This record gives sequence, structure tokens and C-alpha cells, in this order.
Amino acid sequence: MTHTVTLIPGDGIGPEIAAAVQKVLAAAGAPVQWDLQPLNESILTETKGVPPAAVLDSIRRNRVALKGPLTTPIGAGYTSLNLVLRKTFDLYANVRPAKTHPGVRSRYDNVDIIVVRENTEGEYSGLEHEVVPGVVESLKVITRKASDRIARYAFELARAQKRKKVTSVHKANIMKKSDGLFLECCRAMAKQFPEIVYDEMIVDNTCMQLVVRPERFDVMVLPNLYGDIVSDLCAGLVGGLGVAPSGNIGEQGAIFEAVHGSAPDIAGKGLANPTALLLSAVMLLRHLGEMDIATRVEGAVQKVLREGKYVTGDLGGKAGTMEMTDAIIGAL
Ligand code: NAI
Repeated sequence: MTHTVTLIPGDGIGPEIAAAVQKVLAAAGAPVQWDLQPLNESILTETKGVPPAAVLDSIRRNRVALKGPLTTPIGAGYTSLNLVLRKTFDLYANVRPAKTHPGVRSRYDNVDIIVVRENTEGEYSGLEHEVVPGVVESLKVITRKASDRIARYAFELARAQKRKKVTSVHKANIMKKSDGLFLECCRAMAKQFPEIVYDEMIVDNTCMQLVVRPERFDVMVLPNLYGDIVSDLCAGLVGGLGVAPSGNIGEQGAIFEAVHGSAPDIAGKGLANPTALLLSAVMLLRHLGEMDIATRVEGAVQKVLREGKYVTGDLGGKAGTMEMTDAIIGAL
């Protein structure tokens, strides 16, 4: 069966790394047909941040997408498209694995963490207003519905992947009601998964423990803002943005993307590391049930990373995007 997948190459290095993914998946024989949807900063500036109907229809139809990075205005201008897509399709779980890759220089050699971040509410509800000049209120919203479903997602993922532990991360000592509700939902969910160890940790201590003893963590479940920050920390534990994949998953669909942005400093130069988007495509293949092909592509990426001969500059190598891509295809 061929799967039709929406492909949004995006801005900056997006088109270069999207081309790399298309080439590798074709070489691996992945039964994927791409539904190419152009979308970038200039289109979004024109539409004031509203995604074109064709893009939304494509995702609605295909229910799965691979997305390159989009350049977003900072501090002013339209809402980030990522936020719009998460809200439109209710992509409530942001899943970010952080696993040590032998061959990729990092401070640790034993990290294997999956961060499960609530993706729809918390401080990212977009409810901000100026009360009087110089005073701004920003509302953090935590609901039982969203906390329950993200907790369920984390425990089900732990069970499916035979993981041992789920750690819930919070600041309920200060935000007793909001983070307190999040914790209450996680505790209740833990009771339904007795084979999985459940523990809790305050977010500031979590950051310290992640740096000192990252091997103590397995699956982590976090409200939106803490998840956003802690998952970047985890990416740093295993070699940085160039190798960090992610998925935004909901009942109506799933969008997979690299954690990094459009890297304007290296865009168009053929220098971008395709690994993060490729590993996002591996997550996508698993989501589609294409387990064998996913494992083959992942294995080929790991082989090239381990050998270190054809890797891009961010990983200390001299290869360009296409040279690394061709080495991965060779390793298939
Ligand atoms: P960035 O991730 O684009 O770049 C940070 C640094 O990492 C740069 O030095 C860049 O060259 C390097 N880098 C990133 N990806 C790389 C790759 N695949 N290979 C080699 N080097 C890589 O973050 P920055 O500069 O803060 O953001 C640039 C733009 O991207 C902004 O407009 C931002 O809003 C947007 N962005 C979009 C995201 C998305 O669409 N999911 C996520 C993060 C940022």
C-alpha cells in the first residue's frame, strides 16, 4: 500500500534537507508518495500567517505530513505557523526522542530519553493582553482533558516501546493548582500502567539532574513550556539540533519535523545536516506502520554517523548535504 504524505519543504535549509529525505526514502523503497505543498515566509507574510487552504486540505486528506522549518517573526507579526497547525489539527502530543548516536560528539554516551510534551495549552494558549500600559497578563491554561490525554499518550508509548519509567515534570510547589492538576492526572494514569515505574520531579531539579545523570530518565511527560525547554536541553545532551527529530501527533493527524529552525546562516550552501529531518521521517514511517523500512533507514543513518567520514560541518565533518545523503543511501 502506498501512503500519500504531505511534504512542506519550508524556508532556509528546508528545501535542501527535504530533497535529501525524498532521495533516501526513494532509495529505501519506502511506499510513500509525496504531496508537495509549498509554504514559506513570503507566502505567510502575504496571508498574514493564515496557512493556504490547499496546505490544510492536503494535511486533512493525508493525515500525515513531513514539514521543513519555517522562518517565524519574533516578538511581533503573525502567529507561528507551527502553533496554527497544532491548534488546527489538535496535535496534542509533541514527541521528541533524544538518543546517543555513537560517532556524534557529545558529553554523554548513555542517553535514551523520549520527551512527551503537551502541545496545545499551558503558557502557549496565546491569551495575552496589556492590562494597562506597562502591565501585561499572560494566561497559563491547564485542563483535565489535555492533561489526561497527554499522560495517557506517554504511558501508552512507554508500554508500546517496552520502556521502564515515566517521569512527570512540574512546578506544582509554586503553581499548585495548574501544575497540581497536571500531576493529579499523571498520578491517576500511572495506576492504569502498573508495570511502568512512575516518578515526579520539579522542573528546575530536572534540568540539573539531566545534566548530571541523564541515564536516570526514560520517558518524560511535561506541560507545554517545560517540555519545549527541556526537550532542547535533551537535544543538547546527544549532539545538538542537527540530529534531533520530532513528531506532533493527534487523533486527526500527525506532522513530523526536525527540532531545528531554517538556519538562515547556512541556507542555500549545501551544508545542512539532513539527519534531524531524516530521523523525523523514520518516526513518520513507524507511525505509518512501515517498521522494517524505518529500521533500515535509521540503521543507515547511524552507520554514517558512527563512521564519521561523510558527515556535515556541524558534526565536525567536511561533507555537504548531498554527500552525506549519498553515503546514507550507500549504507542502506
Ligand atoms: P536554527 O535552528 O535555525 O539555527 C541555530 C543554529 O544551528 C544555526 O547556527 C544553524 O546554522 C544551526 N543548524 C540548525 N539546523 C542545522 C542543520 N540541519 N544542519 C546544520 N546546522 C544547523 O535556529 P534560529 O537561528 O534560532 O532560527 C532561525 C529561524 O527558524 C527563525 O525564524 C525561527 O523562528 C525559525 N524556527 C523554526 C522552527 C520550525 O519551523 N519548526 C523551529 C525553530 C526555529
